[in-house]
Amino acid sequence: MDAAPSPQEPPEHRVRELVTARTAGGVPTAAEQEEIAAGLRQVYEEFIALRMHYQFGIDEVLTKVEILRKEFEQMHDYSPIEHVRTRLKSVESLMEKALRTEGEMTVRAIRERIHDIAGIRITTSFVADAYWIADILAAQGDLEVLTVKDYIASPKPNGYRSLHLIVQVPVYLSTHVEQVPVELQIRTIAMDFWASTEHKLSYKYEKNLPPALRAELDDAARVAHELDQRMERLRGEIRPQAAPGGGSGLFPGRPGPAAPPTGGDAAG
Ligand code: GTP
Ligand code: MG
Repeated sequence: MDAAPSPQEPPEHRVRELVTARTAGGVPTAAEQEEIAAGLRQVYEEFIALRMHYQFGIDEVLTKVEILRKEFEQMHDYSPIEHVRTRLKSVESLMEKALRTEGEMTVRAIRERIHDIAGIRITTSFVADAYWIADILAAQGDLEVLTVKDYIASPKPNGYRSLHLIVQVPVYLSTHVEQVPVELQIRTIAMDFWASTEHKLSYKYEKNLPPALRAELDDAARVAHELDQRMERLRGEIRPQAAPGGGSGLFPGRPGPAAPPTGGDAAG
């Protein structure tokens, strides 16, 4: 996902670019510029140290996901989880996002407003599995769900579909416990295929997609959605017998991967 960071590199040149971005429009004096630069440099350096804590947050949640996957595989000979990818935002893109978003440029304020420094993307075969994983994780006592965005039930205007959760996990350090937010993106293979293609195209065309490509993407989103619905019907055929239970009730009415077939739970 993000490019590998280079924490040892002096961030001087970046800090200068960031100051320029920060002061665009105004005409700061040399002294003001130096003050802004010093502040940003300090924030930058603190995040280089803090970054490790976010990696620990990823490690904690990843362990939970791996446990669910292995347990389910052992019990049912099938995994609701296809792939798991993690990404830790580089300090550079964190600083960029911090400057793009409203708010103070202090470590505390940035940590409060940016919750996707640590990210985990889980890909599932079926829509119901995406809800199941979110639900099971949300039910775990040490995970606190901060936000839920259900872009599966309510896709974005461009057709993007995915389940987004920000969960907060405690990380036990030697001197204190740190609560670390982790962004979870949970989606089917079809949703993921569409999103990664859309991302590449948006990147290439810098968001100004030619109308013909836009139409292709819209159609691809529709086809991906249809595929998910068809797969959901087929899923009834391979659904294991035992129901695991134990969800958080975050998505009432959503059957888990092992719920008895109901016949009509096509993805919404
Ligand atoms: P940021 O973009 O991270 O500031 O997120 P946000 O607060 O607007 O939240 P949102 O849930 O909309 O998006 C979070 C992440 O989901 C993004 O960083 C992307 O990884 C992914 N995402 C959201 N919308 C799209 C989309 O339209 N296309 C693709 N490919 N990915 C998206
Ligand atoms: Mg993001």
